[in-house]
Amino acid sequence: MEQGESKFQQMIREDRSSRENGHWRGKFIDYLELVKKDSGLARLAHSRINEVILASGITDIHDLADPHIKRLFKDDSLNVYRFFADQFFGIEKVVAKIARFFHSASLKGEESRQVLYLMGPVGSGKSSLVEKLQRGLEESGTFYAIEGCPMSEEPLHLLPRHLRKEFEKMLGIKIEGDLCPVCRFMLKDQYGERYEEVPVVAKSFSKRNRVGIGVVPPVDPNNQDTSVLIGSEDISKLDKYSEGDPRVLDLNGALNVGNRGMVEFIEVFKNETEYLHAMITATQEKVIPAPGRHGMVYVDTVIVAHSNEAEWQKFKSDHTNEAILDRIVVVKVPYNLRLSEEAKIYRKILHNSDFRAHIAPHTLEIASMFAILSRLTPTPKCDLMTKLKLYNGEEVVEKGRTKKIDITELREDAKSEGMSGVSTRFIMKALDNALSDNIKGNCINPISVREALIARTKEEDLPDDARKQYLEFLQDALHKEYLEILEGEITKAFVYSYQEQAESLFQNYLDHAEAYVNKTKVKDPNTREELQPDEGFLKSIEEQIAIIGSAAEGFRQEVIAYLWASSRRGVKVSYQSYEPLKEAIEKKLMTSVRDISRIVTKARTRDEIQTGKYNVMVENLLANGYCENCVDVVLKYAANNLWKD
Ligand SMILES: Nc1ncnc2c1ncn2[C@@H]1O[C@H](COP(=O)(O)OP(=O)(O)OP(=O)(O)O)[C@@H](O)[C@H]1O
Ligand SMILES: [Mg+2]
Repeated sequence: MEQGESKFQQMIREDRSSRENGHWRGKFIDYLELVKKDSGLARLAHSRINEVILASGITDIHDLADPHIKRLFKDDSLNVYRFFADQFFGIEKVVAKIARFFHSASLKGEESRQVLYLMGPVGSGKSSLVEKLQRGLEESGTFYAIEGCPMSEEPLHLLPRHLRKEFEKMLGIKIEGDLCPVCRFMLKDQYGERYEEVPVVAKSFSKRNRVGIGVVPPVDPNNQDTSVLIGSEDISKLDKYSEGDPRVLDLNGALNVGNRGMVEFIEVFKNETEYLHAMITATQEKVIPAPGRHGMVYVDTVIVAHSNEAEWQKFKSDHTNEAILDRIVVVKVPYNLRLSEEAKIYRKILHNSDFRAHIAPHTLEIASMFAILSRLTPTPKCDLMTKLKLYNGEEVVEKGRTKKIDITELREDAKSEGMSGVSTRFIMKALDNALSDNIKGNCINPISVREALIARTKEEDLPDDARKQYLEFLQDALHKEYLEILEGEITKAFVYSYQEQAESLFQNYLDHAEAYVNKTKVKDPNTREELQPDEGFLKSIEEQIAIIGSAAEGFRQEVIAYLWASSRRGVKVSYQSYEPLKEAIEKKLMTSVRDISRIVTKARTRDEIQTGKYNVMVENLLANGYCENCVDVVLKYAANNLWKD
């Protein structure tokens, strides 16, 4: 800190000096030296964004430490782009398609002359994906442009045609594009064609300042003035200069300012076809008309458009649009359908907002379940809740066996799944409502959120059958699901050191099942006595998941084989490794405290022992993420709704 300087002054000074370092200014001749050292400086727009995406690195989806991934993606490898990964959840395939577009376009494939079009339902993340790319550009450091050019033009355009071959060889790059009318005039008028003296500056991309990033909002169809896209002639200057004089030009349209970077078209198909032609020419031919009589102007920009499916279908059904359709790369952006990832979306949005309330365990999970159920297509192969769990990479156990349903087939049977249903915004509004109803407790929980979702569903403008279906999810499927979760939570909170007990049951089961299968004996760890495997004990676990009689033998073999295979692969096994056994062990543990749990929780008055147990249970819940407020709510709810005889 310099003497007498406040903390604020210091920050401002340091920021300014670091920015000034980025403010390079020189002559074109100096710029040539820079490009000679680093030809990447003269990258075209697509390649620049491709670099931005790749700079954060790529991992394979199987490298993520998530056991569900293996079940969901099998052996298919899929690139996960870190650039997007911390903000976008469950749409890895969509992101990979976008990344592939930029990769091919950076190699100047056909994609570099096509519009990237994101199509999906409301709130599926289209705008956010585009914003992320824009922010990437803004943070990508500086690029070089002819000083004063309204289009931040690439300085290499100054090189006369006849010299380009030679320069290309020396610089190791390809030079494309020609000067805009404004720079052409400036070169002649101010520099007498001495292009090597033209000043060049370093600039930063900025959406707000309209540098390298242009945005085209949906325009009033009755007033489709192309000046929004390509700028206009300044009428006030027309009496000073003649009509053909470039000094009357205001090249401030979105396609002008988006030169070098990106132009975003929001709700693109709301625009008239004429309008879209300017967009298409800009990508296909890389030129746009200059306003008035100034010919065509070269542009180098990535065009990204987005809209919902209805608009796309309408546009597509009109045959006169064929030429445009042929020049669009469509990337579908459906809703995420993975439960674990959906909850992350809301956590992210809440984190970015001023929302600072407590969120009870399973709250976002219940809201996410509702969102996903509403998006799933029914199948004869299983009920929707099972489908939801399978899509989440969970194993669904039925009659002691893991359900064998192929996820790939499920997905193939429902091609347009994820393109409709409840949007992220719908859920967010319900979360907000749940909080405003409990400002005092400053906490939201699954119960208040489910109520808020029901209220919203009743209020919202929805087709009748959708409303009926949503209410069924909320009042039936989700109600049951939550009660099951809650019963588990409370009961577990009654079991003294749950994890340890579960592990020890698991180890015991393995020892005895292994001995049983191999027809050997079990060694008592304390007395080192050789004992017969305890079938009674094995049965007491198995019957929890309805494995009885002759089914037991097969089950034991499966468990041993599964765990053998896991440990051979070097996977550490625990009671959670084999889903059916995990379920059996949990049930067994919970059965042991079910009665006491029911009695103590429901009791209106408790004796001393019961009070002690109750308090320990509450302590455990608090340690597991409940707050004083929601622990009360869920326990009352349990007392009224659980263990109905
Ligand atoms: N898969 C996802 N991962 C992370 N965040 C998501 C995802 N899907 C949606 N969101 C979040 O949901 C919110 C709404 O998304 P966004 O505004 O980008 O949607 P949109 O597709 O542009 O919707 P619209 O068609 O209504 O304009 C944003 O906060 C966004 O970050
Ligand atoms: Mg949007």
